[in-house]
Amino acid sequence: DREKKVAVLAGDGIGPEIMAEAVKVLKAAEAAFGFRLKYEYADVGGCAIDCHGHALPPETLALCEASDAILFGAVGGPKWECLPPDQQPERAALLPLRKHFDLFCNLRPSRVFPALVEASPLRPDIVGDGFDILCIRELTSGIYFGRPKGREGQGADERAFDTMSYTRREIERIARKAFEIARLRRKKVTSIDKANVLTTMVLWRQVVTEVSRDYPDVQLNHMYIDNASMQLIRDPHQFDVLLCGNMFGDILSDQCAMMTGSMGLLASASINESNFGLYEPAGGSAPDIAGKGIANPIAQILSAAMMLRHSFGLEAAALAIERAVEETIAAGVLTRDIARDPRKAVGTAQMGDAVASRIRA
Ligand code: NAD
Ligand code: IPM
Ligand code: MN
Repeated sequence: DREKKVAVLAGDGIGPEIMAEAVKVLKAAEAAFGFRLKYEYADVGGCAIDCHGHALPPETLALCEASDAILFGAVGGPKWECLPPDQQPERAALLPLRKHFDLFCNLRPSRVFPALVEASPLRPDIVGDGFDILCIRELTSGIYFGRPKGREGQGADERAFDTMSYTRREIERIARKAFEIARLRRKKVTSIDKANVLTTMVLWRQVVTEVSRDYPDVQLNHMYIDNASMQLIRDPHQFDVLLCGNMFGDILSDQCAMMTGSMGLLASASINESNFGLYEPAGGSAPDIAGKGIANPIAQILSAAMMLRHSFGLEAAALAIERAVEETIAAGVLTRDIARDPRKAVGTAQMGDAVASRIRA
């Protein structure tokens, strides 16, 4: 097999810190399973603005195009928040990357680690022995990308607007993904919308229902976003696959992450029709803890596992990484965000070492 090329874009804040641990774990997996990856690093986000004048320099995009997958850290931070909005790292780098590669399907799995039931802010009787929810978020359309978008006028009449828009084709392809994936799980899709108010969401509900006819073995429920946000913390066990548009998926996936104990646990895969993907933690650059060596690298490590699974078909190696993470947590090796006793917490690199040392074929 040809050596696979990975574009490594660590970005800002905790990005480089957690990325180093993911690469460490990937190298352990290479050694254990006998495959080879070629890592090529490029600047993205705020650090790219600082040294190249643009959040997504052409060389970075060219590297991504020449690669088999993108491993992404996080971008953004206070330093760049005063720039014009369309030059800021999130809008000038991350969103264009998603759009450029048509990464419409964002998978965000939140599963409770048995040893971390107590780290959840939910009551123990609600968490039970854990829940397992997969948020499938449409990532290249909706209110994030709809046109027109802008500002006009002055004074008290100054106005700003975004457009929420979905085409039938866009809804259909993400819905199909959700049903296909639900078939491999507990066969339940809950489609999240606001069809009682938003016309886009009326079409969303209609198209999802139509697509569901091709999947009679999968149960479909529709739920309004406000109710869903409440139902998630009332009884997370009722959910299997959550099918969401771009913005609702953004919001609910952070909520699901925290329900499992920390933002630092939520991995994500953003893939297109040909299984090319960008793999990144769902959390951000965490400016409040950046540079301290205390960030939790698990979301980045599990994102790397998703890369092996979805883009490279290396299922056994992906499972080995996931198992190593679970064993590390069960052994009580925990970063500050998930440790019961912060005095016993380990740092980012120690956590990476602990996971890497547990990788075996
Ligand atoms: P954030 O996810 O960076 O941080 C929210 C909270 O979660 C913070 O208290 C942070 O310390 C904690 N947290 C996040 N990841 C963690 C980890 N791995 N280990 C331990 N704790 C962790 O969200 P924010 O503060 O709203 O955003 C900060 C910056 O990141 C902003 O510029 C935002 O736009 C950007 N952002 C980028 C991405 C991305 O690049 N994919 C995603 C979300 C936010
Ligand atoms: C995420 C992030 C991004 C989003 C931002 C940084 C553009 O919050 O990946 O969840 O809203 O999609
Ligand atoms: Mn988000």
